[in-house]
Amino acid sequence: MKFTASFIALLSVVPFAAAQVAEWGQCGGIGWTGQCGTTCAAGLTCTVINSYYFQCLPGVRPLECVPPPTSSVPTSTASSPGSSPTVSGSGLNADAQAAGFKYFGSATDNNELSDTAYVNILKVPSQFGQITPANSMKWDATEPTRGQFTFTGGDQIYNFAKANGQIVRGHNCVWYNQLPSWVSNSGFNAATLTSVIQTHCSTIVSHYKGGIYAWDVVNEPFNDDGTWRTDVFYNTLGQSYVAIALNAARTADPNAKLYINEYNIEYPGAKATSLLNLVKSLKSQGTPLDGVGFQCHFIVGQVPTTLGQIMSQFVATGVEVAVTELDIRTTTPASTSALQQQQKDYQSVVSQCKATTGCVGITVWDYTDKYSWVPNTFSGQGAACPWDQNLVEKPAYQGIVAGFQ
Ligand code: XIL
Repeated sequence: MKFTASFIALLSVVPFAAAQVAEWGQCGGIGWTGQCGTTCAAGLTCTVINSYYFQCLPGVRPLECVPPPTSSVPTSTASSPGSSPTVSGSGLNADAQAAGFKYFGSATDNNELSDTAYVNILKVPSQFGQITPANSMKWDATEPTRGQFTFTGGDQIYNFAKANGQIVRGHNCVWYNQLPSWVSNSGFNAATLTSVIQTHCSTIVSHYKGGIYAWDVVNEPFNDDGTWRTDVFYNTLGQSYVAIALNAARTADPNAKLYINEYNIEYPGAKATSLLNLVKSLKSQGTPLDGVGFQCHFIVGQVPTTLGQIMSQFVATGVEVAVTELDIRTTTPASTSALQQQQKDYQSVVSQCKATTGCVGITVWDYTDKYSWVPNTFSGQGAACPWDQNLVEKPAYQGIVAGFQ
């Protein structure tokens, strides 16, 4: 970590170690340099008042540990007049809400919040009404060792969203990927793995109880051929792990919408059918399930025109649906014609969702090519987001606007 001269100067006058802050004292916020989680006196909890001021207050609140800002934290994370770029048109979230959606949102990640120019766009509520942490609420981030939970990264993104009036999608409880080896290679029997899932889901969901719009409780349960993904969960518990996780999440936060999130279900085929059958069977058994997330990691020129139709099939079973991880990739460097096609593709996704009663919102898997996961995962591919590497809107932006009309 790099410290600026002014930060080091501050360190010399602010006691850093386990100093105990009394009731009503400051324990965090932009410009504050104390130590996370150890500063409030007994019986007090560090509580977010706003992004600049966290205070030690009596009682236990869900967000106990808020990371102290360092030199890498932006100077401003809350909306303030004059510090943001001009919004083209009304803004994508404003357009979404005018079209009847709950939100238009973006994924983000902790390291990105030190990029002031990036943050100045992400924090604008008329552009983004919803935030998803791309990594910091996953199992490896929240419970790297059995029973030892850490919410530092998740809280940072959660608090950022709350400071800007944005709702949060929690992502995720149970997934075969980014899963610590103490779970995947455990050899746990069914009873122990059940308890491990229940503890994990209930702890992370209850940590944010009352503050999360929706949780991706189960992520990517199926293979592309429609068979169950043979991860440690399925191999040990069969499909019952899905209900185990959903029930634990419901008990932990009865107000959060509980989702199953999946990809390659946006067109007819074995995978969409398997998930549809799972949703029907969970519903008929009374298992709590409120939504299905369509990830929508698409390729320019190959956006399925069946998205809305498939979504409607899910909505007919009694769940809501959302586009949860939208990006539309192409070979890089992107040609002018690819970017023009991408504009049409974004418009198609938005208009298909708009045409589907029960499609509540759209989340892009980060809004800028600068931080897209695509080039790291799909070799030679990228340029998948509505803003380019330099945080300039691409033709795709106008495609989204047009889709909402
Ligand atoms: C991705 C993140 O964006 C990357 O930073 C990480 O390295 C891998 O995971 N489907 C999901 C997301 O449900 O959690 C994935 O996120 C992208 C695919």
